[in-house]
Amino acid sequence: MSDVAERQQWGSKAGFLMSAIGSAVGLGNIWRFPYVLYEQGGGAFLIPYLVAMFTAAIPLLVLEYTIGSQMRGTSALSWARIRAKYEWLGWLQAFFAGCIMVYYSAILSWAISYTRFAFTMAWGDDPNGFFFGSFLKLSDGPMQIGTVNLAVLAGLVLLWGSAFLVCSRRVRGLEKANLIMMPALFILMLIIIIRGLMLPGAAAGLNTLFTPDFHAMLNPRVWLAAYGHVFFSCSLASGVMVTYSSYLPKKSELTNSACIAGFSNSFFEILCAVGVFSILGFMAGQQGVPATEVATSGIGLAFIAFPAGFNTMGNLGVFFSITFFFALVVGGYTSLLSLMEAFIAPFTEKFKISRRKGYAILCSLGFAASILFTTNGGLYILDIADFFINNFGLVLVGLLEAFIVGWLLKTGYFRELANANSYFKFGRWWDACIRFIIPIMLSSTIMLSIRNLILNGYEGYPMIAMILYGALLIALCFVFSFVLQSKGWAIPVQTAEVQLPPGRGKGKEGK
Ligand code: PHE
Repeated sequence: MSDVAERQQWGSKAGFLMSAIGSAVGLGNIWRFPYVLYEQGGGAFLIPYLVAMFTAAIPLLVLEYTIGSQMRGTSALSWARIRAKYEWLGWLQAFFAGCIMVYYSAILSWAISYTRFAFTMAWGDDPNGFFFGSFLKLSDGPMQIGTVNLAVLAGLVLLWGSAFLVCSRRVRGLEKANLIMMPALFILMLIIIIRGLMLPGAAAGLNTLFTPDFHAMLNPRVWLAAYGHVFFSCSLASGVMVTYSSYLPKKSELTNSACIAGFSNSFFEILCAVGVFSILGFMAGQQGVPATEVATSGIGLAFIAFPAGFNTMGNLGVFFSITFFFALVVGGYTSLLSLMEAFIAPFTEKFKISRRKGYAILCSLGFAASILFTTNGGLYILDIADFFINNFGLVLVGLLEAFIVGWLLKTGYFRELANANSYFKFGRWWDACIRFIIPIMLSSTIMLSIRNLILNGYEGYPMIAMILYGALLIALCFVFSFVLQSKGWAIPVQTAEVQLPPGRGKGKEGK
């Protein structure tokens, strides 16, 4: 029996879609998007954002679904099946997923601790001091690692242990978790949003969010921010979508599913932004400052600005705190499961080891690595690694995927594969996105990020830390990818079921 016949499958189409949406919807939606939207010109940002969704995220989602479902393998196997020489690109995705998985688990562990703190609002009057001081005991800089934080460590044990139990037997475990957790997350967020909209000051918050600054649209940086954001948010270029779609039946509808997954993620993001800004509007009213002043980015927004806001809500604060942090845990957990699958499954194929063994070995390694983020310097390391992987790693992989398919293989061939069983067919505009728009936009994004980094550095971190935790990390991912490519497969790479696309210039161009 070939490996293809043995391949595990999702129990249902809904299970696949829910898992794909579960991966996409995560910390990025709940706290990153509202801030990016606000920072990049409020309502006017929605236009570049939607353009980025249509011209980059959806086309790449379709491409990744097509590669996974047709090549019938995780990222590494699928790329090896496309061309042996591109196997490294699949591994690179798996390694980036592995890196994100490690620090993502640490943020989730903080959220678990905060769900616990929420019952007593343990952060008190000084959420900022509490987060950096009492809770994380942050050191003075990224080169001072210090000791392990036991509370965060306990959260990590819970996360890695439970993920092992949920996923290590069958893909169906992963699917079940998503089928339960995603509707639960939706209900939690609806509760927050509806209650948030009823707060005094909510309208002012929404005005701040949606008052368009059309001027911002003329700024290329805003467009590039939109392209950068949809990437992380839709879980592209991390092997997740390729691996997930490889568990679909071969003759699956793809274009419609990609649109459903992509736009459900957007819908969720916009909903989160509405919830977050109605709460920020309320906070601003309580503190007598404009809503612009309370919006801080990233980790600060979730773990500092929110607790500060919940403090001003009286009894309601406890309810909001628990719901919010629990939602963060649930939303992030399904993304964490997807990252684990994208990282671990390629190894189980390459070395033909059982899922259980693969999960046991790599969950242990992942857990061990995540301990680094429980240290006093952990937050700095996390921040640097996240910055490099998001701004350079994922975007670079997306660029390479589009370039290889668009210029070295045949775009039309992939479009035909994508359209074969789909309700609505993508036309040549898809080829144009893959061949021109994505490479142009993503290479500009990368160049702008490099320029910014050289001119301004990042958050004032010392060069040595940036090299060690950022550049070196990315370089190591490349090195390991090539090393793995040089090793043989324990399963047949080419099978009768998988038809290889002929290369550009060899044979007739696909229509
Ligand atoms: N999309 C997830 C989020 O928004 C993060 C993620 C990135 C998950 C890449 C998987 C792969 O939080």
